[in-house]
Amino acid sequence: MCGIIGYIGNKNAVTVVLEGLKRLEYRGYDSAGVAFFSDKGIEVRRCKGKIRGLAAIVEAEKLSATTAIGHTRWATHGKPSEENAHPHRSGGIVVVHNGIIENYLVLKQMLSDRGHTFSSDTDTEVLCHLINDYACTMSTEDAVRAALKEVKGAYALAVINEKEPGKIIGVRKDSPLVVGLGDGESFIASDVPAFMHYSRDVIFLDEGEMVVLTNDGVVISTLEGEPVRKEVVSITWSPAMAEKGGYRHFMLKEIFEQPRAVEDTIRGRFSMETGEVSLDEFGLSREMLLPVKKIFIVACGTSWHAALAAKYMIEELARIPVEVDIASEFRHRRPLINNENLMVVITQSGETADTLAAQREAKRLGACMLSICNVVGSTSAREAAAVFYTHSGPEIGVASTKAFVAQFAAVYLLAIAFGQVKGLLDGERSRALLQDLLMLPGKIETVLSLDDTVKGIASEFSRARGFIYLGRGINFPMALEGALKLKEISYIHAEGYAAGEMKHGPIALIDEDLPVVILVAKDGLYEKMLTSIQEVKSRGGKVIAVASQACEDVCGISHRCILVPETNPYLLAILLVVPLQLLAYHIGVLRGCDVDQPRNLAKSVTVE
Ligand code: AGP
Repeated sequence: MCGIIGYIGNKNAVTVVLEGLKRLEYRGYDSAGVAFFSDKGIEVRRCKGKIRGLAAIVEAEKLSATTAIGHTRWATHGKPSEENAHPHRSGGIVVVHNGIIENYLVLKQMLSDRGHTFSSDTDTEVLCHLINDYACTMSTEDAVRAALKEVKGAYALAVINEKEPGKIIGVRKDSPLVVGLGDGESFIASDVPAFMHYSRDVIFLDEGEMVVLTNDGVVISTLEGEPVRKEVVSITWSPAMAEKGGYRHFMLKEIFEQPRAVEDTIRGRFSMETGEVSLDEFGLSREMLLPVKKIFIVACGTSWHAALAAKYMIEELARIPVEVDIASEFRHRRPLINNENLMVVITQSGETADTLAAQREAKRLGACMLSICNVVGSTSAREAAAVFYTHSGPEIGVASTKAFVAQFAAVYLLAIAFGQVKGLLDGERSRALLQDLLMLPGKIETVLSLDDTVKGIASEFSRARGFIYLGRGINFPMALEGALKLKEISYIHAEGYAAGEMKHGPIALIDEDLPVVILVAKDGLYEKMLTSIQEVKSRGGKVIAVASQACEDVCGISHRCILVPETNPYLLAILLVVPLQLLAYHIGVLRGCDVDQPRNLAKSVTVE
């Protein structure tokens, strides 16, 4: 997820763009840049790192203009660097982009064959060259339209053309773009905070719409050129809330971004025609995977829960033994790992010291390394032989939510890929699993619509002295995740347990003051989960059942109940964990906790 902004008007456009980028920094902050019209044509300034580096350049040169576009980056293709920073340029065309061009490699080859040369590793530069190819023979608007007909993927674009000063073109598909209307000035941006201190009158572009900003105002049309009339909305949010997209906290915003995090993570990584998962996307090959006799997965915290879930999926779909370790334990136990093994590290930040130490130890012992990571160019990604980037966008809340769901989608694809390499998943079975994945974002949306129900449960139990979370099979790691979310957000003690373990000790804790969250799926363990519910109830415990719709009977025997849509057993785990994220969030808020920055925690634990 990146942030883009464009401005035309009577203020200093470079300053307006820079200020706007600072308010979009939560969308990405590994590099930034600005392009503006001057008497030399279009000038570009870019720099690696946070926006303050770009601000220093702008201030030192006292740059000024009436039209400018800018970008703050969260890298998806190409490591954070000045060369990969936006804006990108081809001839007189300059582009800033938020999104992912799925077919950029095919387009890059086609353009290279036409003599284009590239200075970056990004998908955006390819799009810029494609637009420029068309701009030689048509208007900028038509060149953008023509180029986008060849593009697959997601984009929110701002495009300027040296031949047409005082014009900015914006287009959106699967990435947000809003227009700000001022007195003799106009704005486009990824999000309202970028310009709301100048204008609160906004137009939210819809899918496939194009806006042209000039000094005469804004004109909106479809990509086919049909004029579109749009409603002007007046924003009432506070600037602080606006940065959170109208949500009270980043954590809540990121929970609600999870459908998008899954969509962006899986986009372009498999083919529904063949049912094949792209090994290239993992930086792997059949030759690398075929000899793998055992897979080790290491991680910490929430990422470790994704690792535990991966074990269930890979062992069931690919029949390869998987050993999961907490990273801080792995290297101190003299692990029996060698060059016949694949080591997978799962890390949102890519900088967790315990995980990096385990990764280095496994590498020293000869294992092939795959990093599943959310930060392009992070240490884990740079030191791994292969990398699968989740595209959940920057996760600002310390408690991991959308990054976890994106990790889960990643290991689900990895399990299918392994199953295919091992010849255990044919096209039909693969397509069924992938179709379930394509439908997952919509089902997460359905679960998110239960937020008020979860909020009601939170208000009933916000003063509890402790919680127990129970699950079986792949839902056992989800129980662990639900307990961790509650602990780290509300400071209430909570334990996640394999439901079968209750009778081996924890059942002594059960009484009417200890709510028990029980995850239930209509699978081979359903009857056992009903038994667990009865075990808790018979000792006066209050059961909060989180179950799939096929298990609606559990509502009649539970104190409270949340039903989520059906899907396959693997992806159901994600639908069951989303209410647990919301429960932790609402209890934390009710207890007056700092849910975005809980006490004692850090977003990236870079110490052992
Ligand atoms: C998750 O909510 C926690 N903030 C924490 O457990 C986190 O998952 C852990 O520190 C691992 O971080 P990583 O994924 O960046 O390696």
